[in-house]
Amino acid sequence: MSAYATRVRSVGGYLPAKVLTNADLSRIVSTTDEWIAERTGIRQRHIAADCETTSDLATRAAEDALQRAGLTADDIDLIVLGTTTPDFTFPSTATMVQQKLGVTRGAAFDVQAVCSGFIFSLATADNFLVRGQFERALVIGAETLSRILDWSDRSTCVLFGDGAGAMVLERTPAGKPADAGVLAVELRSDGRFRDLLFADGGPSSTRTTGKLRMAGNQVFKHAVLKISESVRAVAERAGVSLDEVDWFVPHQANQRILTAVARELGVDEARVVSTVAQHGNTSAASVPLALAAAIDDGRIKDGELVLMEAIGGGFTWGAALIRMGMKQS
Ligand code: UT7
Repeated sequence: MSAYATRVRSVGGYLPAKVLTNADLSRIVSTTDEWIAERTGIRQRHIAADCETTSDLATRAAEDALQRAGLTADDIDLIVLGTTTPDFTFPSTATMVQQKLGVTRGAAFDVQAVCSGFIFSLATADNFLVRGQFERALVIGAETLSRILDWSDRSTCVLFGDGAGAMVLERTPAGKPADAGVLAVELRSDGRFRDLLFADGGPSSTRTTGKLRMAGNQVFKHAVLKISESVRAVAERAGVSLDEVDWFVPHQANQRILTAVARELGVDEARVVSTVAQHGNTSAASVPLALAAAIDDGRIKDGELVLMEAIGGGFTWGAALIRMGMKQS
């Protein structure tokens, strides 16, 4: 057993000011508010300003999380950032956030797991902290998905939005308290499904960024099954039953997926946090943004068990079980 465990110190978020409603979209592509709301639950999404990049959104979310933890950039020695819409091919968006925050020690790097990016980043940071290699990490999910959408494709452009969420994770001596922090993580991927959800370009193939392409209804079916599997697996790994979980914070792709997964798992939807109506699918940012929203409105409290999950292109998918322990012990 490791000498260290991790603790969740805070969660923060940032949404760009500009809101794009379903009615706005109906003036861009052949769609209606009724279709989008009924098929997805989405009512609006936020869109980054022309001058805002993913690292700008990420920095704002990180500042919010630091402020909520009562910490400064000097307290951070690891930044792990999940994104599929980096500012540049290189350097990593994480190092740009490092520079914008004024962090000058430790390390910063990106994780590419598309919509599962936050779960994969959390797992990565947790491993480094538990190993004792770093002390305090910023785990960030940040996206400007609007930049890689095909705005003439109504089957995808209505689904996504921009935003960023961040979490401060801290190394603590193992067993103090025994059951706080990151309790278990389940990560999966299967490259055989790459053609169902992908960007049709990249630096080494087309030498362009490409646009997001998705076989929506096939992704939907995989999402329900694979998410349900990983939720069961992470709970089993941690030795807790789903009844003991206080809150489920899913990736916010489609309200129908949230409902179908809850039904599949026999979980009361009152325990499922949904921000899909207000945020749409913000890819790697969706889980921390939903978590931040439910902490802010007083639903998720210190000491509660929270199960997060996501699925994205690759496919990548996974789940993480955490116990909120934000108060200083
Ligand atoms: O973040 C990664 C994970 N991503 C997801 O989990 C997304 C998963 N997929 C979905 O959420 C759903 O499949 C969608 C919301 C993308 C689509 O819903 P659906 O119920 O699977 O619809 P569909 O793709 O089977 O399309 C049904 C109809 C089609 O028309 P026809 O062929 O029946 O005449 C589409 O052309 O709906 C049409 N349609 C639209 N109509 C109005 C597709 N998009 C739109 C639209 N407005 N925006």
